[in-house]
Amino acid sequence: MYTGGRTVPTVPQNPFRPSAGAEPPHLVGRAGLLDEFIYGLQIRSGAPGLLTIFTGARGIGKTVMLGEAEDAARSTGWAVVSETATPGFLGRIGEAMRSLTDELGGGPTGRKITGLSAAGFSITTQLPPAQQLGWRQIGENLLRVLDGNSTGLLITLDEIHGADRNELAQLAAVVQHFIRERLPVALVFAGLPAAVSDLLNEGVATFLRRADRLDLHAAAIDEVEASYLQEFSALPHPVDPPLVRAAAEATAGYPFLIQLVGYHVWQMAESVDRSLTAEDLDIALAAAHRRNNRMVIDAALATTSPKDLEFLRAMAEDDGPSSTADIGQRLGDRKNTVSNYRSRLIDAGLVQPAGRGYVGFAIPGLREHLRQS
Ligand SMILES: Nc1ncnc2c1ncn2[C@@H]1O[C@H](COP(=O)(O)OP(=O)(O)O)[C@@H](O)[C@H]1O
Ligand SMILES: [Mg+2]
Repeated sequence: MYTGGRTVPTVPQNPFRPSAGAEPPHLVGRAGLLDEFIYGLQIRSGAPGLLTIFTGARGIGKTVMLGEAEDAARSTGWAVVSETATPGFLGRIGEAMRSLTDELGGGPTGRKITGLSAAGFSITTQLPPAQQLGWRQIGENLLRVLDGNSTGLLITLDEIHGADRNELAQLAAVVQHFIRERLPVALVFAGLPAAVSDLLNEGVATFLRRADRLDLHAAAIDEVEASYLQEFSALPHPVDPPLVRAAAEATAGYPFLIQLVGYHVWQMAESVDRSLTAEDLDIALAAAHRRNNRMVIDAALATTSPKDLEFLRAMAEDDGPSSTADIGQRLGDRKNTVSNYRSRLIDAGLVQPAGRGYVGFAIPGLREHLRQS
């Protein structure tokens, strides 16, 4: 196209990634978090960081941290198996280990060792004893090959709050066996905090209690601001620093909102092709919050019962954490009913304990959403 000799400013592509598990342009507020894990990759076996659990609310960045751990492992030559804890994950990990063994051409293949068919690991939650043994042998064989190359195997498992207890116990038992054999294996999990605590307390896999537990929280506003200043500086028209600050504050440091706000501000800046005004920013922030409601809050509320909702609405009457005694009074419910719903909602990742006798919302914007609807 003829442009009259002017160079048309090319706006770089929107760098923000408001999508579950998507790697953000900047990992805000997570400095040093993987240090122990990375240190463990050097030691390769038996180091504490090689057994790590990330916990935190929906949208706080757990899946992204698993991805970071996987990148770190791959960059030191480790093999990676990445799974989500939906039924059958143990069998899927087994299959992945088998194809890794085949790929590495390491000795006899898993299939030969165990005599299992290609579909040997069915999608049942409990492997029959022969397959359990097969799984263990395939894993051991693979780990010995990797050990010979001075690397190891990282297994990541996402959403363990939903894991079948049996399957998780089996995985833990076999991995514990590998560790005892001094084989180079790392296990990194992610899940919702309260449900993970239950899982560990139930004694499903006692050895998992020794894992490094990293509870992810919102990032500091200053760090969000610094990241925005850098990202927005690539726009053809500079964004006013006070507006950048306001955008950072609107995220409350919550990672999913960091991406949503950044994304909509960027999109707005592209569409107006001039410096942003405070009104433009308001429109972008409203769009970000609408999308947060749709993607996080509606999804989280989708599985709630009418009674759960009543409980949540009773909480929303408070501006900060609610006392469970107050909630009981508002609902006219007995103490044990209140505590039942309290733990149901904590497990669902909607509510979190906020000191003795108090609960708060686990997702930003949930209170406002409940007040409006
Ligand atoms: N440290 C971070 N800094 C900025 N954005 C992040 C960070 N961690 C995650 N995000 C973004 O937040 C969103 C949710 O991340 P995700 O890992 O899917 O959360 P979770 O697994 O806890 O629900 C994604 O859009 C991701 O790009
Ligand atoms: Mg996730």
